[in-house]
Amino acid sequence: MANITLESVGKNYTLGETTIQALNGINLSIEFGELVIIFGPSGAGKTTLLNMIGGLDVPTSGKVTVGEIPVSTLSAKWLTIYRRKKVGVVFQFFNLISRLSALENVEYALELVGVKKGSNGEVSYDSKLIRETAIEYLTKVGLQDRIHHFPAQLSGGEQQRVAIARALAKEPEILLADEPTGNLDFKIGRQVLEIMEAMTGKKLNRTVVIVTHNEAICPLGDRVIRLSDGRIVEDYTQKFKPAKDLYW
Ligand SMILES: Nc1ncnc2c1ncn2[C@@H]1O[C@H](COP(=O)(O)OP(=O)(O)OP(=O)(O)O)[C@@H](O)[C@H]1O
Ligand SMILES: [Mg+2]
Repeated sequence: MANITLESVGKNYTLGETTIQALNGINLSIEFGELVIIFGPSGAGKTTLLNMIGGLDVPTSGKVTVGEIPVSTLSAKWLTIYRRKKVGVVFQFFNLISRLSALENVEYALELVGVKKGSNGEVSYDSKLIRETAIEYLTKVGLQDRIHHFPAQLSGGEQQRVAIARALAKEPEILLADEPTGNLDFKIGRQVLEIMEAMTGKKLNRTVVIVTHNEAICPLGDRVIRLSDGRIVEDYTQKFKPAKDLYW
């Protein structure tokens, strides 16, 4: 059974007299547990597509469903709950809160949803556990020495890693990452992708969708979807991923 489905999804933006078709008749099914790479040139509609899945924007036409949830027709209140509970987003331009330190940015996201404790998925709002979890994820992305820095005191790549830690710490069922390695050097970019790869999979039932214009990342995906001019022009499954040392 497909778990994330887009049926004939279109998205138009109107600016003055011109209408831009950012997405045009997108039909797509993604199974929970898949690691999907969405690849395409600038302006292809990649971010717009992620926004549709994440409930960050509504389609002009068509339907988006995640499991039993009719994402494209939810009320604002339920959309907020959907985004909070199910989805973690690494935004292309980070969207960190400038008045909060790196640590506080991650803690704040966790305070909204709590931390999943143990294997039975029990949720805790204990502030000590939230702090420990935030530090754990900031350490995973190599920022243990920068946790008290504010976004303006961090480099672009460091801000990107705070955004990644913030999304991953929620352990979301659906992780949407928009150009997550765009500002990272090779070594850190690889670490970040490996963390994302480790959190995906059928057993965990966690889905990861990574948007990129970097073709080198494509071999990482169970599935690669190529977008061009708001349409899917290629969609293939990689049953046998190449050995890591071949694609890194
Ligand atoms: N809010 C908006 N208002 C008007 N046009 C928009 C808006 N957002 C996106 N667009 C247009 O829609 C098209 C798709 O944009 P989108 O941001 O999805 O592309 P992208 O594939 O993510 O590109 P990039 O790789 O540069 O991030 C572009 O032509 C863009 O100019
Ligand atoms: Mg984009």
